[in-house]
Amino acid sequence: MLRLGGRGLWLGLAVAAAAVMAARLMGWWGPRAAFRLFVPEELARYRGGPGDPGLYLALLGRVYDVSSGRRHYEPAAHYSGFAGRDASRAFVTGDYSEAGLVDDVSGLSFSEMLTLHTWLSFYEKNYVFVGRVIGRFYREDGLPTPELMQVEAMITKGLEANKQELKEKQKFPPCNAEWSSARGSRLWCSQESGGVSRDWIGVPRKLYKPGAKEPHCVCVRTTGPPSDHMPDSPPHRNRGDLDHPSLGEYTGCPPLAITCSFPL
Ligand code: HEM
Repeated sequence: MLRLGGRGLWLGLAVAAAAVMAARLMGWWGPRAAFRLFVPEELARYRGGPGDPGLYLALLGRVYDVSSGRRHYEPAAHYSGFAGRDASRAFVTGDYSEAGLVDDVSGLSFSEMLTLHTWLSFYEKNYVFVGRVIGRFYREDGLPTPELMQVEAMITKGLEANKQELKEKQKFPPCNAEWSSARGSRLWCSQESGGVSRDWIGVPRKLYKPGAKEPHCVCVRTTGPPSDHMPDSPPHRNRGDLDHPSLGEYTGCPPLAITCSFPL
């Protein structure tokens, strides 16, 4: 058994404390894996010019080494405005003026926040993460600010809404549509309509969505249980989703027709 007493104990404790400190400094703890903290002025030196220490950019406070994409970001390159700073807003707006190259992402919509998320994934995948910028998105101790948490919450909500929309699209794939001055309009379903590959075709119906001004045409399954059928639901009528309350038939189109034509 190892026994530490007197000076040995103090030495042991000192070694342990040093190890903890080293681990902290190296950022080996949990989510704070090795990263540097930058102040904006320091980051500004990383523009990839002669004598600069490197070529970095930041997005939502996260700093990436983009030197392998030098041709995009070096001085005078098309996207040089992103170098040496956090210009998160311009990733959405495409405004590369000095007024546009800012990190203020307030007022952006859910889908614009998702654009930022897509860019973040892009940099995570293609470049090396080197640190965080102290300021709008990270505090001096390197932890997220309430503003970043709000952005992240919007991104999470946006991703969830997208997932929900995708599920809805599988259930009610959009119809094919065409219009010609000679024949009028035609709506029809196929196994690929709306870009949704499936083993059923369905029939056109108007889908009324809460908040939408106009209904839009979707293809509806005509056999089997309704999509929201549960094992303990009453027996179904083998009509697929035809009886869904948000659906309406097209006037002048037979209820089980795959194609609805509306001559002029
Ligand atoms: C909000 C608008 C836009 C933003 C924020 C943006 C941003 C960027 C960034 C950061 C890169 C470099 C990616 C890398 O590191 O590899 C890039 C590359 C590129 N962008 Fe854009 N871009 C925008 C719009 C456009 C548009 C409208 C076009 C075309 C009309 C375009 C064409 C390209 C092309 C062709 C490349 C690749 C160039 C190459 O590989 O040499 N971008 N873009």
